Amino acid sequence: MKNLRLLDICNNEEKDLSKLMEIIAESVFDGILITDIKGSIIYTNSSCETILEIQKKEIKNKKVVTIIDDKSIKELLIKPKFTVERSIVFKDKDITVRIVPFYKNNKHIFNIIILRSIFYETDPQHELRKLEQSLDIMKDILDYEYQGMALVDAEGKIIKFNYEKLFGIKEEDVIGKPVEEVIDNTRLHVVIKTGKKEINDIQNIQGKDMIASRIPIIKDGKVLGAMGSVLFKDVRELKSLAQRIETYKKNVKKYKSEIKMMHAANYSFDQIITENKRMKHLKEMAKRAAESSSTVLIQGESGTGKEYFAHSIHRASLRSHGAFVRINCAAIPRELLEAELFGYEEGAFTGARKEGKLGKLEIANGGTVLFDEIGTMPLEMQAKLLRVLEEREFERIGGTQRISLDIRVIASTNEELEEAVVKGKFRQDLYYRLNVIRINIPPLRERLEDILSLSKHTMEDLANRLGIKAKIIEPETIEVFKKYDWPGNVRELRNVIESALNLVNEKTIYPRHLPDYIQQKTKEGIYNSGDNSLLLKEIVAKAELKAIKEALNNTKGNRTEAAKKLGIHRTALYKKIESYGLDITKL
Ligand SMILES: Nc1ncnc2c1ncn2[C@@H]1O[C@H](COP(=O)(O)OP(=O)(O)OP(=O)(O)O)[C@@H](O)[C@H]1O
Ligand SMILES: [Mg+2]
Repeated sequence: MKNLRLLDICNNEEKDLSKLMEIIAESVFDGILITDIKGSIIYTNSSCETILEIQKKEIKNKKVVTIIDDKSIKELLIKPKFTVERSIVFKDKDITVRIVPFYKNNKHIFNIIILRSIFYETDPQHELRKLEQSLDIMKDILDYEYQGMALVDAEGKIIKFNYEKLFGIKEEDVIGKPVEEVIDNTRLHVVIKTGKKEINDIQNIQGKDMIASRIPIIKDGKVLGAMGSVLFKDVRELKSLAQRIETYKKNVKKYKSEIKMMHAANYSFDQIITENKRMKHLKEMAKRAAESSSTVLIQGESGTGKEYFAHSIHRASLRSHGAFVRINCAAIPRELLEAELFGYEEGAFTGARKEGKLGKLEIANGGTVLFDEIGTMPLEMQAKLLRVLEEREFERIGGTQRISLDIRVIASTNEELEEAVVKGKFRQDLYYRLNVIRINIPPLRERLEDILSLSKHTMEDLANRLGIKAKIIEPETIEVFKKYDWPGNVRELRNVIESALNLVNEKTIYPRHLPDYIQQKTKEGIYNSGDNSLLLKEIVAKAELKAIKEALNNTKGNRTEAAKKLGIHRTALYKKIESYGLDITKL
């Protein structure tokens, strides 16, 4: 039987198709905005109203940037070439904004803007945990063993009574009795007469201070009875309960943020694509590291997948139920870094939020922290961080309570930290603390065998995400990719593929579809210096290896003698022997 296609349902009519699209857009939780190329809104779905808290009619024909006044969105809307995504804060909500430009025959026609409130993204498991926690609070209050309630009729006789938990008096023993004979210092019989409620009065019952409220029950101006309730064993009890509720509230807040942060840890080891031996080895090493709580230092050029590794380690570890919190040391202004890390108490400093703020370390407690671009952390902050890592304890700014810390630390850097240490820009002691398990991710140009599988995988992934058909990448195109040096590594490769996927109309991507700078590189590679210099390097290396082998043979493997003969220092010879992988026992 022939498969039913979407267009069949629509009888090939554009009107039907647009109706169908509208139904789909109206059924999703994400906000969908369609703008013309100048950024004026031509369509919105209903979810936009919820997410942006604005009515549809107020949005239509307006420029997106007048509604979402965010600098990064403004920049993205200027001639977007391929799908881009940003997280922004809008009316105190975290919103992920995805901009999908639509091109037809190489002409930019419109943009689809998808808004996702983190609220809808929450992981159900965590939602459940949060709910359970709120329920716990409720139960705690309801079950509180120190609350009592009594109902009396117009004559002050007890008709309902639950003071049993409080004073051990059973309901059946007191029903029908005058209330003043049963409860110490009660005023319920007075309230029946005055008809006036008494709220939060202190009442001493069996030697304990209680907080009592008494409410007359009145109908048609006539007092029918009164209800009294007493709460808590004594006033101090009230205070301690209030404190407990406060702690619960903070916890709920903490879990909320945790859910948000958890979203960052979306990647796992099987998503790290590689055919390269060294990378496979690194993956194995990282998997082993995941089993422990050891600190991991990941070094690699930009876009090599440092964050992928960090996420995967967290996901594969026993801490995966905890939060994965990323701290971008380069992006947080130096004066805010401390507050971000440690959090602060209510009113800790001017400008601080009134209710205080949880620090990222506290949010990550029980989970993993990634210090991204650790090399850019200011020296004085490095000292503070080192102390925290050593003591495994910290205080919030303006706080007095020591909070114990149970986190795994992953640090990542794209510069050589060793060099930063030598230059005095990075503390040596902190460097040693972090450099426990070391993962050096090679740049893409040093693992050319990854280019084919990464290109294929990325193409599939992007097509899937965009809901369009993947294109074939010509083997010739892959060859061009292999000759380019990819300063932006895998991220750059992904961007190039995404751009081709969006802009190329044909089913196949040929080298001519690639940006000029990539094609140019290939021509240079074939006709100019590129290959020759490689060749020269090879010639030098071969000659050097031959000379070293000869010298070692002539001196019967005596490295000091051989170094003298070669006119180089002994340690330099050791290094060369190691780098050529020479086994001197087999010479
Ligand atoms: N081995 C891989 N397999 C699949 N995709 C990868 C791999 N490595 C990197 N990527 C892709 O490249 C992008 C960049 O990776 P990531 O963010 O981990 O880089 P990074 O090293 O943290 O870069 P930066 O230093 O700029 O922060 C990822 O979003 C992912 O799409
Ligand atoms: Mg990164």
